Amino acid sequence: MATSIVVLGTGGTIAGTSGQAGANVGYTAAQLSVEQLLAAVPPLAAAARGSLVAEQVAQVDSKDMTHALWQRLVARCLAHLAKEDVAGLVITHGTDTLEETAWLLANVLPAAGKPVVLTCAMRPATALAPDGPQNLLDAVTVAVHPEARGVLVVAAGTIHGPREVVKVHPLRLDAFASGDGGPLGWVEGGQVRWAQARAPQPPLAPHAALAPRLGALPWPRVAIVLSHAGADGLLVDALVAGGVAGIVAGATGNGTLHESLEAALARAQGAGVAVRVASRCPEGRMLAPAQAQWVYLEGLSPVKARISLMLELMAQGA
Ligand code: SIN
Repeated sequence: MATSIVVLGTGGTIAGTSGQAGANVGYTAAQLSVEQLLAAVPPLAAAARGSLVAEQVAQVDSKDMTHALWQRLVARCLAHLAKEDVAGLVITHGTDTLEETAWLLANVLPAAGKPVVLTCAMRPATALAPDGPQNLLDAVTVAVHPEARGVLVVAAGTIHGPREVVKVHPLRLDAFASGDGGPLGWVEGGQVRWAQARAPQPPLAPHAALAPRLGALPWPRVAIVLSHAGADGLLVDALVAGGVAGIVAGATGNGTLHESLEAALARAQGAGVAVRVASRCPEGRMLAPAQAQWVYLEGLSPVKARISLMLELMAQGA
C-alpha cells in the first residue's frame, strides 16, 4: 500500500520571517504555512518514500502554546495515526515549548507502532543559512525509518527522546540536549544512526485512554513554584487560596526544598492540593527518600512534571 508522511504545522521559528534580510534574531515566528515550508525543501519528496501530506494545525510562537492548541494537536495526531496508509507524522514546532509538547504527546498518543517526530529551527526561514530546511528533511528521514517508533525530537542532526530532551541554549543551532543519557541517535548524510545500534522501543503511553477525550475534559490548574534562596510560602498560599488543583515544586538538587516553602507545601497538601516534587537540576535523576512526604517525579523537569500531574488529575477525574 502507498504510504504517506503527514506534516502538521504549528508555527515557531521554523516558519518565522524577518523584514531584515538574513537576520537571525528580531524576526516574527509562525509566518509561513507548512505548505511553504515543504515547498522550500525539494529533496523531501524523495526522502518521504511516498506522499507528503501537509496540514496547518496552528500558527503560533510556541511560547504562547495553550491547552486548547494541545487538544487540537492531539486530536489531529490521533486522526492521522489511525489511518492505515499513514506511516508516520512530523510536527513542525517552535523550540521554546517543544519539549513540553513532546512530553504531552508521549503520554497520550498510542504511537508505539508509528513515529511522531517533532522538529523546529533556531533561525527563521529568511536567515542567510536557515536550519529549518535541513531539520525538516532529517525529521522526515527519521519518520520513514523502519525502526522509528513513538515520539521523537529531531534537531541539528540529533534524535532526542521526549523524556530527556531539553532546550539548553537560547541561540545556538544545536540548542537541545538529552542530559547524561545522551541522544537516541543522529541523522548523518541522510542516514539514521541509532546510538544503541537499534532504535529504542518507546514505553506505552500511560495516559493513552485520555487522548480521545482531552477536548471534553477540563484541564486542572497546576502551577510550578521554584525553591530558591530566600523562598517563602507566599506564592503557594496564594495559589491554594486561588483554587489551584496541583503544585509542582521545582526543588534544589536531590529534591530538597527551602524550609519556608516546604511548610507552605505541607499546608497545601493538607488542604487537598496535589503536590509533586521535580528537581531543578538539568542532568541526572534524583533519588527520592524512602520515607517521602511528597511524590517525587524522578527524571522529569518541573515543566514536564506539570504535564504529568495535569494528566494524572484528569485521569482521576475522568
Ligand atoms: C517558538 O518557540 O515558537 C519561537 C522560538 C523558536 O522556535 O526557536
